[in-house]
Amino acid sequence: MKLSISSTTSRCIILPLLILYILLYPLLPAGSQFINKGGTVTVDPSPYFLLGSNLTVYCHVRECKRSYKISLDLNGVTVKDRKEVNCNLAKFYLPNVHMPQSFVVCKLRGVQSTKIVTGLDLHGGLPPDKPEDIICEVTRSSDFIGCLWKSGQKTYLPTTYNISVNRENGTQIYLDQIQNAEEIKIPRGIVDKTKKYQLIITAYNHFGVSQSNPFILCVKEIVIPETPHITNVEFENGSISAVLQWKTTDLSVHLKPYVRLCTYNSSWDVREETELSDTLIRVGDLTPLTEYEFQVRTCNSTFRVNHITVPSFTPGPTSSQRLPCSKWSSSVLARTPGKGPSQRLSVWRVFNSQQNVTVFWKPPPPQDYSGEVKQYNIFLASDQIKEVTCREASCHSSVLVPAAVQTLSISAVTSYGSSPPADVPLRHSGEVGPVLRQPAPAANGSAVYVSWSWPQTKSWSTSGGEVLLHYVVQWRSVPATKLWWQEVEKNQNSTSITGLTAGVRYNVSLFAVTTRGVTAPSSVLIYSKEQKPASGPNLTVLLHEAKRIQILWDELPVNQQRGFITSYTLYIQTLDSSNQALRGEQ
Ligand SMILES: *[C@@H]1O[C@H](CO)[C@@H](O)[C@H](O)[C@H]1NC(C)=O
Ligand SMILES: *[C@@H]1O[C@H](CO)[C@@H](O)[C@H](O)[C@H]1NC(C)=O
Ligand SMILES: *[C@@H]1O[C@H](CO)[C@@H](O)[C@H](O)[C@H]1NC(C)=O
Ligand SMILES: *[C@@H]1O[C@H](CO)[C@@H](O)[C@H](O)[C@H]1NC(C)=O
Ligand SMILES: *[C@@H]1O[C@H](CO)[C@@H](O)[C@H](O)[C@H]1NC(C)=O
Ligand SMILES: *[C@@H]1O[C@H](CO)[C@@H](O)[C@H](O)[C@H]1NC(C)=O
Ligand SMILES: *[C@@H]1O[C@H](CO)[C@@H](O)[C@H](O)[C@H]1NC(C)=O
Ligand SMILES: *[C@@H]1O[C@H](CO)[C@@H](O)[C@H](O)[C@H]1NC(C)=O
Ligand SMILES: *[C@@H]1O[C@H](CO)[C@@H](O)[C@H](O)[C@H]1NC(C)=O
Ligand SMILES: *[C@@H]1O[C@H](CO)[C@@H](O)[C@H](O)[C@H]1NC(C)=O
Ligand SMILES: *[C@@H]1O[C@H](CO)[C@@H](O)[C@H](O)[C@H]1NC(C)=O
Repeated sequence: MKLSISSTTSRCIILPLLILYILLYPLLPAGSQFINKGGTVTVDPSPYFLLGSNLTVYCHVRECKRSYKISLDLNGVTVKDRKEVNCNLAKFYLPNVHMPQSFVVCKLRGVQSTKIVTGLDLHGGLPPDKPEDIICEVTRSSDFIGCLWKSGQKTYLPTTYNISVNRENGTQIYLDQIQNAEEIKIPRGIVDKTKKYQLIITAYNHFGVSQSNPFILCVKEIVIPETPHITNVEFENGSISAVLQWKTTDLSVHLKPYVRLCTYNSSWDVREETELSDTLIRVGDLTPLTEYEFQVRTCNSTFRVNHITVPSFTPGPTSSQRLPCSKWSSSVLARTPGKGPSQRLSVWRVFNSQQNVTVFWKPPPPQDYSGEVKQYNIFLASDQIKEVTCREASCHSSVLVPAAVQTLSISAVTSYGSSPPADVPLRHSGEVGPVLRQPAPAANGSAVYVSWSWPQTKSWSTSGGEVLLHYVVQWRSVPATKLWWQEVEKNQNSTSITGLTAGVRYNVSLFAVTTRGVTAPSSVLIYSKEQKPASGPNLTVLLHEAKRIQILWDELPVNQQRGFITSYTLYIQTLDSSNQALRGEQ
């Protein structure tokens, strides 16, 4: 399948996150006032404050009105801690302000009405952290050196970064400035490619200055491979894997490709995948019907760490600790195709008569296919196909099978393909199969453990090409209603049958399916838990003589027995005496 590919900006979550500064308000000079006809608001120490500061807000009104009271709202909530200095001035305490963006509004509250006097924005922030983890990289063809750093915790205020490049003797040769960023491009032309330089990043804002450790910049040590491109994505049929074709302008001989992929909203998953050739990589383990974003980068596998001389003049991080890898390519989006079921269905059958067979099967496990099962095809003799729809956890259908037909097969049909046909064994092998042992009910009353063994005489090595395929354990309640069954692998000799009801009799049968056919069953009647009989039997007196009566009772219907009847107890009462019980065995 060939898919059209498209490049987009990344929709994946990038970890660690690049901090985005969303600043709603421009930086005003410290101590500024919002002045308006009604009065003024001032903040001590300043409307630009360190997060967690205690602030004092003064609200000064021009006109003194006795019937009004000066009040202050912080983010819409009236401030309680207030002290009236005089009828023009009130003082409000705002302890421990942790909101980076707040506003205060000074009001005159009267009995009838409230007047807004004036308002002021408050800006909380933090001094910048020391810029850390500086990395500078350049490709052979690029005119710019890209440098990245980590700015640390959020400052909430505009933070400026001065980037300076100095000679070994300390002379500054380059200075650039950028706000609220974690990367910058430096023109390659300013540096000599064999010389060492120091790069220093100074972060500053309203609350302070913080300088990075010097980074040793030497162009020949920071060359990374060119950024590759993904030119094609193809999915392989059946198996959910993609083949990415990529291209680079570098000689790709010693470049090892890495792939990273993500689905919508997930984080990147970096993989070292099978290389099919110099420019083809297979990415496996994909989920069907999912949109993926792929990126490729290359790392220089011939790179030798020892080859780089340890910087002599200042200790500090250099690029020499890292394997030179290209930048990630731009993304290519592609949606995986759907997957048809790959496993055979689990199938069984019961003969209603010589030619009328009910076939049973279980739907394919949901993780084995995508989309929906549209129908099941039962392949009968002479290319006849019976189509059956079934949405149940267990499906069945009765078919008429001519005596000559020895197998029929069933396949699940989905929108993305069909399962391989599963053969329903129709032939009887005419042999004795394994024998069920006495089953062991589980303590919880809803399961029974069954095990079996082959008769001593059966030896597979001498049975002339016959191969054991699997076992089938079948059970149905007595009196017969629904049928349940379970396929058991040939190397097993026991299984638990679950979902049984206490007080219900089940007929459990075991079959071995071999290449020659199905063995005769070994059957046993079981209860997952026995219960008291639901009623007593009806009684008729057949004969009544002196000192002797003959009575007859009906056997209880199986569904009233609710267990194996072990004995009957006969109660005899003479009309003039108390009860007397006689016990008699069945
Ligand atoms: C703020 O005031 C409280 C007392 O009201 C005091 O304990 C605290 O240390 C002050 N915080 C600052 C940053 O000054
Ligand atoms: C940043 O650079 C500017 C010049 O571009 C300079 O005026 C300023 O003082 C520098 N700031 C710091 C903190 O070094
Ligand atoms: C540093 O070196 C450069 C050239 O190598 C030279 O032009 C400059 O004068 C030197 N500065 C100092 C302070 O020695
Ligand atoms: C993919 O399809 C080709 C023919 O189109 C076939 O030869 C190959 O076996 C298929 N591969 C898989 C994994 O299904
Ligand atoms: C993706 O993430 C956003 C916010 O993080 C969320 O609102 C949205 O529902 C997510 N979408 C999916 C498909 O998980
Ligand atoms: C890989 O590294 C080697 C040794 O450092 C260098 O000679 C070669 O040019 C590099 N290849 C690429 C494509 O960057
Ligand atoms: C086969 O037997 C079943 C159950 O005895 C019956 O319901 C069905 O009609 C029969 N099918 C045919 C085709 O005779
Ligand atoms: C009952 O026990 C069996 C075997 O221990 C277990 O497989 C089954 O899940 C249990 N059923 C319930 C309802 O707990
Ligand atoms: C079942 O198989 C195990 C080994 O897999 C064996 O130890 C055990 O005796 C077998 N039980 C029966 C009933 O054959
Ligand atoms: C139990 O099932 C087997 C296989 O279908 C059958 O041969 C046997 O007669 C059944 N036993 C009873 C008691 O129903
Ligand atoms: C006993 O006889 C009554 C009346 O004929 C009948 O309704 C009932 O089902 C019988 N009970 C049993 C256990 O056979």
